[in-house]
Amino acid sequence: MWTHRHLLGIESLLPSEIQFLLDRAEGFASSIEKTARLRGKVVVNLFFEASTRTRTSFELAAKRLGADIINVSPSTSSVIKGETLLDTAKNVEAMRIDAIVLRHSASGSPHFLAKRTHTVIVNAGDGAHEHPTQALLDALTMRRHKGRIDGLVVAICGDILHSRVARSNAILLRTMGAEVRLAGPRTMMPPSAETIAAGVPGVTIHHRLEDAVEGADVVMMLRIQTERFGVSCLSTLREYSRTFGLTERMLTRAKSDVLVMHPGPINRGVELDAKLADGASSVILEQVEMGVAVRMAVLDTLLRRA
Ligand code: CP
Repeated sequence: MWTHRHLLGIESLLPSEIQFLLDRAEGFASSIEKTARLRGKVVVNLFFEASTRTRTSFELAAKRLGADIINVSPSTSSVIKGETLLDTAKNVEAMRIDAIVLRHSASGSPHFLAKRTHTVIVNAGDGAHEHPTQALLDALTMRRHKGRIDGLVVAICGDILHSRVARSNAILLRTMGAEVRLAGPRTMMPPSAETIAAGVPGVTIHHRLEDAVEGADVVMMLRIQTERFGVSCLSTLREYSRTFGLTERMLTRAKSDVLVMHPGPINRGVELDAKLADGASSVILEQVEMGVAVRMAVLDTLLRRA
């Protein structure tokens, strides 16, 4: 069922493999008891970009499975003395670790390490490329509420161009049979749907939020990735919020049992009305909860076969 040594992206997964990870994560979601399944394994969190949810949940996941986990932060490591990513990884690897969970601003950096080290590599977000465990936890959250992914209408709205979350979600959701609508200003949209969804057909692009939200089962809002492009793609935040911010009024266009999602961190009042973020349709904190279960499933699957 599972043949991969690493988890580098959703792009390389078959529908059966996505299903397998979701089913495994569902099992872990129902029990958070600590186990010894990965006793003796050592995981290193190597995060070159800021993170609250992903880093903490990988740490919790490893601990709940009985593994040891160490956080290496570039700001307090020899990276600030000029050590390269590869040298950092090779030195960490020399200490006989089993996996590196990597977040890096360079797209393709996990693939680069996977080719040049002997350690299991898990992509925790590479530039604007992929964030596979985010897409898996989003899919698990949808499946728990809707009972399926196939046939769901999912609107992903905001800064699509710079979003690894949008890309991994678009690929996963199309692969599993959902309808995917991407919505955002022209300056935050790739030239074609094919660019974002890696050739997976059936993703549509919209430049008006209402067109994407109409009849949707799920509305996923994205943060503007100002760290990836400065402010050059924006006129003003107020203008952005007026045209692409999700309000209660806009949400009435979606299905009555719509789920409001956001990968976090939220810029309240910019892409998402604060009341909606905390409202009855919001499953944002459940997404965070499912993050631990998904990361347990990923670490367990990769490290028990390594
Ligand atoms: N969703 C997500 O990746 O959040 P963090 O940046 O806090 O890890």
